[in-house]
Amino acid sequence: MPRIANLYFRTAIIFLIVGIGMGLKMAITEDHSVIGAHAHANLLGWVTMAIFGGYHALNPRKAERRLAMIQYYIYTAGVAVMVPSLYFMLLGNMALEPVVAAAAIVTFVGVLLFAFIIFSGDEIATTVLPAPSH
Ligand code: HEM
Repeated sequence: MPRIANLYFRTAIIFLIVGIGMGLKMAITEDHSVIGAHAHANLLGWVTMAIFGGYHALNPRKAERRLAMIQYYIYTAGVAVMVPSLYFMLLGNMALEPVVAAAAIVTFVGVLLFAFIIFSGDEIATTVLPAPSH
């Protein structure tokens, strides 16, 4: 598996652990105010990062590009700042609102870069499956 794919899966599983932690906290305390942070940790973190990692695993030549690593750092920084700042904002710390907004924009830039990766270059999957044996 390309390094970037492995990195994305490792980062994704951390967000799933954090996201489920928030879900369990909501369930146990019966206070669902952090629902937005929970949903975004799981969906922008676990789900989207796993899809990004899967895409790179299927496209090893694109995964080798420097842009792939730049996109990883920008997207991950955005989500890593957005999730905790959203969590504390939802708990009442409204001063964090501009931080959430800035992190959301950084996350979106990461998504746009991923769109560029998908649409640029003509590399297709280089994973060759063995022919079925009869
Ligand atoms: C053990 C794991 C999990 C627990 C204990 C948990 C718990 C919760 C709780 C208590 C809520 C609030 C429900 C409400 O107030 O209506 C919630 C909402 C939500 N969760 Fe989870 N969750 C878990 C895993 C996940 C995962 C893996 C995802 C996504 C991949 C996810 C996505 C969401 C979303 C999108 C909402 C908002 C739903 C809505 O507003 O209708 N959760 N979760």
